[in-house]
Amino acid sequence: MRILSVVGARPQFVKLSPVAAECAARGVQHVIVHTGQHYDPALSDVFFTDLGIPDPDVHLGVGSGTHGVQTGGILAAMDEVLTEHRPDRVLVYGDTNSTLAGALSAVKLQVPVAHLEAGLRSFNRRMPEEHNRVLTDHAADLCLAPTRAAMEHLAAEGLADRSVLVGDVMVDVLHRVREELVDADAVLQRLGVVPGGFSVATVHRAENTDDPARLAAVVDALRQVDHPVVLLAHPRLRARAADQGLDLSGGSLEVHDPLPYPALVGAVDQARGVITDSGGLQKEAFVLRTPCTTVRTETEWVETVELGWNVLVEPGPDLAAAASRPLPASTDATPYGDGHAASAVLDALAGDLPR
Ligand code: UD1
Repeated sequence: MRILSVVGARPQFVKLSPVAAECAARGVQHVIVHTGQHYDPALSDVFFTDLGIPDPDVHLGVGSGTHGVQTGGILAAMDEVLTEHRPDRVLVYGDTNSTLAGALSAVKLQVPVAHLEAGLRSFNRRMPEEHNRVLTDHAADLCLAPTRAAMEHLAAEGLADRSVLVGDVMVDVLHRVREELVDADAVLQRLGVVPGGFSVATVHRAENTDDPARLAAVVDALRQVDHPVVLLAHPRLRARAADQGLDLSGGSLEVHDPLPYPALVGAVDQARGVITDSGGLQKEAFVLRTPCTTVRTETEWVETVELGWNVLVEPGPDLAAAASRPLPASTDATPYGDGHAASAVLDALAGDLPR
């Protein structure tokens, strides 16, 4: 069997890592297509190197652009790739423009397509990611769901017959990286913080970065937190802040470049809290049992909230209060699986497809 993975953005490289390793372990042919949606070395190359992912077989080099330009650019380029490599299955990951374009290109050429991280819903139709996930799930032949809640969403949309619960591959990679982590101290030294005395923050969602008043409110709220906050600034955040003449430091806030994945895991593991609008980081914080404060009106990862390890806040005084709340009650729940999701993904891909 030949699987062709389409990836393009930072969280997809993380998810690709355990899938690529499982393909190698099983001797399954695996073609990796990098769309080029993320191209800065700190958002792309460093993940391939650190996570031991083979170099992409194909690089589309699509780069940044409006949603239409980016999605359309990938779609146009994929015809030739699929015709040349003739995969048995196309695998797309998550909810970015690369996900939707990869799925559509496969459907158009009648190559069976599987969606990893299917069934997540925010029910917020203003988010580009929500369009991408709904459209991808409905285009896919196989929906690989990370959680029971995701399976329920798929069933509610009439997709139960083509859905399989596989768990979350991000747990696979997180377990592996945590075991291999040797030098979290060096990371903290680089960030100028002490164990348990700081929060890690990331802000990159369009809904937070692209409205000047909201972005200013988020930054102001981060400055008010009663302990140091290390803001790992995505290029989108830096660009929008620069457009608005907004300083990303001040008060408790210290701005840094994004971290490579192992360093991020080390930092989150040692942090007092995480403040974020990222989906992946909400889960990573939960798995590492670091309390999370999410600057969004809803989350796809509802289990983190239900289990008491994540709270949703609006930018304002609630954010600082949430960031210094006491540690929640401990839990041994594993809503995202046991770290063997990639194996379940490969089993599902090798099986017969639902008709
Ligand atoms: C994308 C995904 C988002 C995901 C995120 C992970 C979509 C619609 N959004 O958001 O779901 O959570 O990736 O990080 O697909 N830029 C650079 N260098 C890069 C890449 C981007 O400077 O390597 C800057 C450019 O100014 C670009 C902006 O970041 O316009 C936004 O990049 P884009 O790929 O459109 O979306 P993300 O915000 O990264």
